[in-house]
Amino acid sequence: MNILFVCLGNICRSPMAEAVFQRILEREHATERFTIDSAGLIGFHAGELPDSRMRYHAGKRGYSLTHRSRPFSRADFDRFDMIIGMDDQNINGLNYLAHTLEETRKIFRMTDFCRNIEADHVPDPYYGGDQGFENVIDLLEDACEGLFLQLAVKSKQ
Ligand code: 4NP
Repeated sequence: MNILFVCLGNICRSPMAEAVFQRILEREHATERFTIDSAGLIGFHAGELPDSRMRYHAGKRGYSLTHRSRPFSRADFDRFDMIIGMDDQNINGLNYLAHTLEETRKIFRMTDFCRNIEADHVPDPYYGGDQGFENVIDLLEDACEGLFLQLAVKSKQ
């Protein structure tokens, strides 16, 4: 199963989602069953490490963010089984880039996997303060647990 997490700049939310899901895969001894990556709908930050504020808040919970930002590419529709956006803007952008129903069906919303927190998007923390970054990690930890559980259940069916 190949999963791509997508946000706007690929320097805050989606590299954080990748790190959270990676830690769950390691805990569950499931790393060989998944290939994960993240990308942004804009290439403005291509090549950059995640935003220093995101890295700081991630570090407080033991995550190390080493991903380098890269723009989403149409080839990602072939490479990945699930393409998971963080908010309406991401989902709309991905739907715009999809050419076929098969591609459209690969697009998911991160918060649809939340089990404890009620939310319909992962808010962009870029122009906000510390609490925004903490909120991103709270949402992603909840959603990634739900995502893993859903896929684990599916693989047993
Ligand atoms: P992200 O946050 O989409 O969570 O990586 C953003 C990063 C950069 C910008 C916007 C959002 N930007 O406009 O440069």
